[in-house]
Amino acid sequence: MVEAIYRFPDDFLWGTASAAHHVEGELTNSWSAWEDEGGHVFQNQKHGRACEWRFGRWQEDADRMVELNTTSHRLSVEWSRIQPAPDQWDESALEQYSDIIDGLLHRGIIPMVTLHHFTNPLWIEKEGGWLNPKTVDHFVKFTERVLDALGDRVDLWCTFNEPMVYAVQAYLVGMFSPGARNPWRMFDCAEMLLRAHAQAYHVIKQKNPEAKVGIAKHYVAMEAAPPKLIHGRLVGLPHRIFNEVFVQALVSGEIDFPLRRRVILHDLPGTSDYIGLNFYQRYRVALHPRSPKTFFLQQIPDPESPPPPPLWGEIYPQGIHAASQWIWEKTRLPIYITETGTPDIGDEVRRWFIAQLVRHTWHAINFNIPIKGIYYWSLTDSFEWTAGYNPEFRFGLYEMNFETQQRIPRQSAAFYAEIAAAKGLSSEMVRRHVPQLAEKLFPGAPGKIQVNLKPH
Ligand code: BGC
Repeated sequence: MVEAIYRFPDDFLWGTASAAHHVEGELTNSWSAWEDEGGHVFQNQKHGRACEWRFGRWQEDADRMVELNTTSHRLSVEWSRIQPAPDQWDESALEQYSDIIDGLLHRGIIPMVTLHHFTNPLWIEKEGGWLNPKTVDHFVKFTERVLDALGDRVDLWCTFNEPMVYAVQAYLVGMFSPGARNPWRMFDCAEMLLRAHAQAYHVIKQKNPEAKVGIAKHYVAMEAAPPKLIHGRLVGLPHRIFNEVFVQALVSGEIDFPLRRRVILHDLPGTSDYIGLNFYQRYRVALHPRSPKTFFLQQIPDPESPPPPPLWGEIYPQGIHAASQWIWEKTRLPIYITETGTPDIGDEVRRWFIAQLVRHTWHAINFNIPIKGIYYWSLTDSFEWTAGYNPEFRFGLYEMNFETQQRIPRQSAAFYAEIAAAKGLSSEMVRRHVPQLAEKLFPGAPGKIQVNLKPH
C-alpha cells in the first residue's frame, strides 16, 4: 500500500547506463593496448569477454531493462570497431549497433547514444590522440558515419562522456593512455574535446534536426575539510578546473583555465541542447604534503556515510540537488542525470544510495530544476577501467558472474523497478528496502499519524 510518495513527472525517463568497453567484450584495437601494457589495471586484468554484448547478450540485457520498468538506456558506440583504420569502416559493426537500437526501440526503450566514452582507436592514439588537432576532423567524420547509420532512430546524443575525467586520467594523473602527467597537456586536451563537441553538434543536427545533443559532465562535490578557515581557500582551484571551466565554456565559448591563456571558441555557444550530469561522490579539499598532486582532493568521508572503496571519495547521493542546481544556474539548460550510482559489493549501500538519490532528485525538481531523467550506472556489473574486475568496484543492479555470464538481480534491481513503475519513491518501498531511512525520508510517515476527528 502506498502511503506517501515522492512522485515524479509522467514523462521523466527512468533509465540505466552502460558503455562499450565496459560490456562489449574482446575489443582489440583501443583501450585493450593499455591493459596489455601491464601495470595499469588492478592485478593486470584484461576486459576479456566482459558482458558479451558483442556476442549477442545485449538482447537479454535489453529484456532486463524491460523487467526493470525502465524507459531509456544510455550506451556508447566503440569508435575503434567502426573505424579500425583511418580509411576503413566496418559495416558489420555499424549493423550490430543498428540492431541494438532497433532492439531497444522494439522493447519501448529510448536509446541515448554516446559517441566517445574514454576510448580511442589505436591509430588515433598513435597519431597523438587528443593533442593532435586532426583528431577533431577524424571525430567529425566518425560522427557523420554513425549518424548515417543510426540518426534516423536515435534522438538523444551525447558527444563525450566526462571530458574532464578523460583529460585528467590521460594527461594529468596518467592512469589512462598515454599516461601523461602534465597539467598543460590536460588543458590542451580539454580544449580539443570542446572543439570536437562543437563540430559534432552541427553534424548531428544536420543529419537529425530532431536530435537533442549534449555532453555528460562529471560534477564532483567538493567541500573544505576542517579547519575551514584554512582549507576553504583551496576549494576554488579544483572546483574551477574540474567543474566550472568546461561548463562555462559550453555556454560562453570562453575557455579560461587558471594560468593558461584564454581561448574563445566562437562556434561553441549554443551547441548544447541539454547538459548531462554524471554525479557520484564528494571529496574534501585540504592541504597535505601529497595533496598538491591530487589538486588537494582527499578522501575524508563523513563518519555517517557508507565506507567507500579506496580513492573513491565519499558516497554522497544527497549532493545531487546542489550539483544539479549549480549546473542549472550556470547553463539554464535541461538536465539529464546521465550517470549516477555507487560501488558496492553487497547491496545495502546501493539501496541506500538509490533511495537518497531519488528523494534528493525529487527535491531538486520541486525547486524547478528541469531534470528530465536518471540513467542509473549500471545495469550490470562490468569491467571498470583501472579497477578492472576488482570486487570492490561493482556497480550493477544485476550481479555478474563473469565465469558463467549469469546475471543475478540484486535487491536494488527490484527496488529500482518498483520506483520506475510507480514513477516515484514511496514510504512503503523505503520501509521494505531501506528501513533505516524510513524515518529520515518520510518523517512521521502516514502509517504513524493518528487523526481523531470528533463528531460534531
Ligand atoms: C564513468 C564510467 C565509470 C563510472 C564508475 C564514470 O566516471 O563514466 O565509465 O564506470 O564512472 O566509476
